[in-house]
Amino acid sequence: MTDAVITHIEDAVAWITLNRPDALNAINNDTRRMLPDAIDAADANPDVRVMVIRGAGPRAFCAGADIKEFATVDAPAAHRQSRVQRHWIAAFDRAVKPLIASIHGYCLGGGLEIALACDIRIAATDASFGFPETSLGIIPAAGGTQRITRVLGMGVALDLILTGERIDAQHAWSMGLVSRVVEPAALNELTRGIAQKIASRPPLATQFAKEAVHTGAEISLAAGMRQETDLFTHLINTQDRQEAARAFSEKRSPKFTGR
Ligand code: CAA
Repeated sequence: MTDAVITHIEDAVAWITLNRPDALNAINNDTRRMLPDAIDAADANPDVRVMVIRGAGPRAFCAGADIKEFATVDAPAAHRQSRVQRHWIAAFDRAVKPLIASIHGYCLGGGLEIALACDIRIAATDASFGFPETSLGIIPAAGGTQRITRVLGMGVALDLILTGERIDAQHAWSMGLVSRVVEPAALNELTRGIAQKIASRPPLATQFAKEAVHTGAEISLAAGMRQETDLFTHLINTQDRQEAARAFSEKRSPKFTGR
């Protein structure tokens, strides 16, 4: 193992850093092993309420798969089988806690797929986004073709995937790919503020809200409304809901425990 991915936990936020700055945080085999482990560990850690994914160094969130490792791929059948059994990106879908992508610099290929697998994307003005895959004779295959279509719609998704053109942060914001854009120097502070705001809320409410939105996007409106009601009903009797109401009446700050 290397230090390709490092986790730092502070104030209920797990900061998970892609840490190969000399290679613009390109995703190599170590990243593929370590990133899911880091996400699973933070998701299971009762001291963590929110996860942030970011890139080390000044130039990139992540410049995609490590192209220098492309020469050493498995035979196609073995490659397919290992992905079906344990695709590294699936850790994002397993996570019940909110994931924030804090993006500066290059966010390309697999890097954009990581960002798309997060619940919230925040960008610095120096960020740029793109899918270079088809120029390399492949397609985005860590959920990219599926998630970008769900986030942006088919026309914009196909434009980005087929042309491979890079867009800047402002363009990404205008199409809804990221929800906020700030100056690079302010990215960490904004990310911390958003993460702490979410972490200060009752954890089950934030997790159920995430589940309602994600599952709802895959099912009919009627089924989604039923699921929303079920999740709401579970929350009614939680200690945190009662604490929120008590704290409001007593004009004090609530203390949430996740129960
Ligand atoms: N894989 C491996 N190394 C990479 C890399 C990558 N994806 N991206 C950058 N690097 C390395 C460069 O080789 C270089 O290393 P050396 O100093 O040892 O030569 C270092 O990072 C800095 O990069 P550049 O010198 O190229 O920096 P630049 O400013 O000239 O260009 C860039 C930056 C436009 C991002 C360019 O590096 C680039 O085009 N990178 C490749 C981007 C790409 O095609 N990514 C998609 C890969 S496919 C994918 O992601 C799909 C998937 O999941 C399977």
